[in-house]
Amino acid sequence: MSQNTQIILRERPGIQGTVNPSLESGTFALQKSPIPTEKDVPDGSVLIKVRYVSIDPAMRGWLNDTRSYLPPAKIGDVFRCAALGEIVHSKSPSFTVGDPIAASTGWQQYAILPAKLVEAAPAKKGAELIDYLGVFGSSGLTAYFGLFEVAKAKQGDVVVVTGAAGSVGSIVVQLAKIKGCTVIATAGSDDKVKWLKEELGADDAFSYRSPTFFQDLRNCIVRKHKFAHCVFDNVGGAQLDLLLGCLRKHARIALCGAISDYNGVTNGLKNYLALIGQSATIQGFIVFDYADKYDAARTDFAKWLGEGKLKRNFYTREGLENAPQALIDLFSGVNKGKMVVKVA
Ligand SMILES: NC(=O)c1ccc[n+]([C@@H]2O[C@H](COP(=O)([O-])OP(=O)(O)OC[C@H]3O[C@@H](n4cnc5c(N)ncnc54)[C@H](OP(=O)(O)O)[C@@H]3O)[C@@H](O)[C@H]2O)c1
Repeated sequence: MSQNTQIILRERPGIQGTVNPSLESGTFALQKSPIPTEKDVPDGSVLIKVRYVSIDPAMRGWLNDTRSYLPPAKIGDVFRCAALGEIVHSKSPSFTVGDPIAASTGWQQYAILPAKLVEAAPAKKGAELIDYLGVFGSSGLTAYFGLFEVAKAKQGDVVVVTGAAGSVGSIVVQLAKIKGCTVIATAGSDDKVKWLKEELGADDAFSYRSPTFFQDLRNCIVRKHKFAHCVFDNVGGAQLDLLLGCLRKHARIALCGAISDYNGVTNGLKNYLALIGQSATIQGFIVFDYADKYDAARTDFAKWLGEGKLKRNFYTREGLENAPQALIDLFSGVNKGKMVVKVA
């Protein structure tokens, strides 16, 4: 009989540790259980066959037993994740068999969830189901609200985007160009720099692996573009510290993420006094803060996709058992655009 493959959290890597990908002895373990049937589905719930699971840097934070915007992942539980799939049994009037959906199913092939925790993922012009993990999902919404509500980017602004070739960053770059901003981007390879400039429309881009990165980036922002109005920061650490010294008066920094610090302890920001000198604002945010405005953002994304104004790239791994390695690989930057695992 077929089994439901699930990946559970076996042990925490420790705040400064790295994820161990071994499913025999590492951070996660593989578990098999019977595939649920219609009789296992309570009234008001649905059974989902999972097609794609999301791989996100935030998952590294969920492995720590620390206070955050969501509770820590629990040892022995199926590991939490955003996912896409289809309804295979429904005991809710909201869904019928075959409906495409988005939900937090966890890393498993089949999941039972209350219908109120499941979102319909209807087909949209120019879009595919997988876009519900990209522009219509948390990456797109984070980019949209971080850029427009937190960084308050407007036409003519000079916008710096760190981690710009990733899932969130690659959308931020394109949204800023749609808005009529000048975009300066950073990423981890020459290939990504080329993609950012030639495909996504960044005006300038720099690889942080270049020995002259900090000098080149500072010269570009300060000399060529006369300082930055906005920073959309995905990386934190030394890049953010440098950018604090490149701000215009009343600049806005959207603190989206700090991936350079997720596997260790932060060394702190040395240049934060520049915020005072430039009357600048630095604001952290979580995409969920804007949940009541998602529909408006998705309407804009659907329009831009339909007009062919947004490029999307997915870095897809096959097989649920490869999800832990995919999480590790986010930290070495193998992905251009959104990292996903195709389940079935
Ligand atoms: N605030 C929110 O609500 C929210 C929501 C979603 C995501 N986020 C945050 O947004 C950021 C981007 O998330 P994402 O889903 O779009 O991931 P992503 O950018 O697609 O993937 C992570 C990327 O980070 C880069 N990276 C890894 N280690 C790095 C380091 N030490 N220094 C600099 N860059 C490094 C890698 O690209 P390179 O080749 O360029 O190194 C990698 O491709 C993360 O910090 C995430 O936590 C925040």
